[in-house]
Amino acid sequence: MTADYPLLLRQLAALLDTRDWLTNSAQTCAFLMEAIPDLNWAGFYLHRMPETLCLGPFQGKPACHPIPFAKGVCGAAARTRRTQRIDDVHAVADHIACDAASRAELVVPIVVDDQLWGVLDLDSPIQGRFSEADQAGIEALVRVFMDRSDLVERA
Ligand code: SME
Repeated sequence: MTADYPLLLRQLAALLDTRDWLTNSAQTCAFLMEAIPDLNWAGFYLHRMPETLCLGPFQGKPACHPIPFAKGVCGAAARTRRTQRIDDVHAVADHIACDAASRAELVVPIVVDDQLWGVLDLDSPIQGRFSEADQAGIEALVRVFMDRSDLVERA
């Protein structure tokens, strides 16, 4: 099922009415979990230690922490600074399984002033859940979060 991304962009922009990255990141993952069908996890990992992602605000089951840049889908997004769109995480050798139910994953890097600030990670129990259109829509939602937040937290 697809989401109405133009509508979600307007709704998220209206929801984020502070500049506080912590408040906004908590609101953003709660919003995505409600608004995007078929997710079992939505959250942020923050680049707060060198070459390491630390678990930030999220919705879903308790998750893996910390994640080194060297490992997993989130690590690949952090290393390459490119969105990772995975149809079937079982096909990714070093995938970090936090929840056995997860099948598809989308991880969007968040880069500020040429520094990796963190990543947004979405998981779905449905294989192939994230299309190219979903990737573009979710990347646009991440840009709304970035534009509306003071992203001061860094390694
Ligand atoms: N599966 C991710 C780890 C994070 S969880 O899905 C919440 C990975 O391989 O990086």
